[in-house]
Amino acid sequence: MIRPIFHATVFFGICLIIVGLLYVYKLTASLQLARIFARRLNMSRQDYPWLPPNFTDQLMTEREAHFNMTNIWKMRNITRKYFNPKSHIIYFSDFHVFMQKCDPHTFTLRNSHPRRPRPCNVVHTPIKQYRTCAVVGNGGILLHSSCGAEIDAHEFVIRSNLPPVHDYRRDVGSRTDLTTMNVIRLDQIANALETFNSTLRKDMLARLGQSPGMIFSYSFSFIGSKARYRMQIVDTAIKNNHLSTITAFPSRSFLKSKRLYTELVGKDLNFASTGLNTFALASTFCERISIYGFYPMPTYQNKRVPYHYYDIRPHSGRHDFDEEYAMLRQMDADGVIKHVVGKLWFAFLSATLTLSRGEDRPNFVFFVADDLGIGDVGCFGNDTIRTPNIDSIATKGAKLTQHLAATAVCTPSRAAFLTGRYPIRSGT
Ligand SMILES: *[C@@H]1O[C@H](CO)[C@@H](O)[C@H](O)[C@H]1NC(C)=O
Ligand SMILES: *[C@@H]1O[C@H](CO)[C@@H](O)[C@H](O)[C@H]1NC(C)=O
Ligand SMILES: *[C@@H]1O[C@H](CO)[C@@H](O)[C@H](O)[C@H]1NC(C)=O
Ligand SMILES: *[C@@H]1O[C@H](CO)[C@@H](O)[C@H](O)[C@H]1NC(C)=O
Ligand SMILES: *[C@@H]1O[C@H](CO)[C@@H](O)[C@H](O)[C@H]1NC(C)=O
Ligand SMILES: *[C@@H]1O[C@H](CO)[C@@H](O)[C@H](O)[C@H]1NC(C)=O
Repeated sequence: MIRPIFHATVFFGICLIIVGLLYVYKLTASLQLARIFARRLNMSRQDYPWLPPNFTDQLMTEREAHFNMTNIWKMRNITRKYFNPKSHIIYFSDFHVFMQKCDPHTFTLRNSHPRRPRPCNVVHTPIKQYRTCAVVGNGGILLHSSCGAEIDAHEFVIRSNLPPVHDYRRDVGSRTDLTTMNVIRLDQIANALETFNSTLRKDMLARLGQSPGMIFSYSFSFIGSKARYRMQIVDTAIKNNHLSTITAFPSRSFLKSKRLYTELVGKDLNFASTGLNTFALASTFCERISIYGFYPMPTYQNKRVPYHYYDIRPHSGRHDFDEEYAMLRQMDADGVIKHVVGKLWFAFLSATLTLSRGEDRPNFVFFVADDLGIGDVGCFGNDTIRTPNIDSIATKGAKLTQHLAATAVCTPSRAAFLTGRYPIRSGT
């Protein structure tokens, strides 16, 4: 009689210990994730020491008026039907174990009975609800936009396809909390990580380290997709090099659903771009979404706009970009998103603020040219006299088109520039 009771007790005890260990394992993974996220969200300030401390509040207060919460909730009710960030974004602390034990199509354990499949033991990501998010596309419109500080002021910053950020941070910001990845890009990244060319490999590792946060692959659960193996390569590289990036996957793929966009805006899109899908994803966990770098046209205000801000690829005809653009404008008009195009009010504000702070004061070099008409230089439209250096100053800086000189003659007008006084007062 004693023996069976003893056995049962021991058995029960061991079960309890295993359950406890599993629980601790899961808890540690969650804590580790939460820590990485907290660190990411903290990093933003350093790049913009001249910003006033309540800059974020100021910007967001201004922007708040744009949004119509009723319409935002309506949109979220639709997108949440297709995707629930709480249960559909998944993180694995050990990819190899996952690949062995879990069927990625169904997210059930491989060794469980087909009739009674048991769900895989996975950690759901610490995605919360965010009040303000920036969804940053890779459009060339961002070049020279000075949007960086404004983008970084959002609570959560989302990008697509692991773009270069560091060299363009004045225009595109430097924070990344989540990067979505399409099939083609994932393939490129995995190839770069596996190549024998160490320059290429190191560049890709540096890129992964520069844009930490979470890397999210849409294509993970497609039947027959190689994305899983590629993602495993990325995940291994991240862990071997101790990068503070994490990989995550959707437990099912909703974003290819055409019905989503039909329901959202009553339009049939053939092939939604990665950017648009990223917006749809963001809409499930962000309240006020500002969208940057989504501008498909080749020119803006008579200036050429490259396809991407970071390369010279020609514009692509693969997606219904005109339709997508019209859709974003419509949502902007309805107060569902803020669609930012062109330079910002903030670009000017930041220049002014920079001036008022002693240690960050920039140098101004002031050229006064004798007998130079406005129509004589290239950046103001002269195509016979070539002035490439002056033009380059204009492209990289600000071009001002309105100006009053204190007088129409040389010396007194220069004296006015130097002193800020009327010529008559400085005795010239
Ligand atoms: C984030 O910043 C706050 C205040 O600057 C600091 O107290 C906190 O420890 C930081 N958190 C992390 C995870 O670095
Ligand atoms: C931000 O700070 C400035 C000066 O400290 C203050 O005048 C302004 O009201 C503040 N704005 C917000 C939105 O808190
Ligand atoms: C939000 O949009 C709805 C429908 O478009 C409109 O009826 C409502 O007045 C708007 N709310 C605000 C605060 O503008
Ligand atoms: C969104 O869904 C919730 C719950 O299903 C409902 O209470 C709410 O009225 C809906 N909001 C809109 C704007 O449709
Ligand atoms: C490695 O790749 C870089 C960049 O594409 C290229 O410039 C370089 O020549 C390659 N090196 C070798 C050894 O192939
Ligand atoms: C360029 O400047 C020269 C010299 O002032 C002038 O003769 C010429 O007409 C200008 N060309 C244009 C297109 O304005």
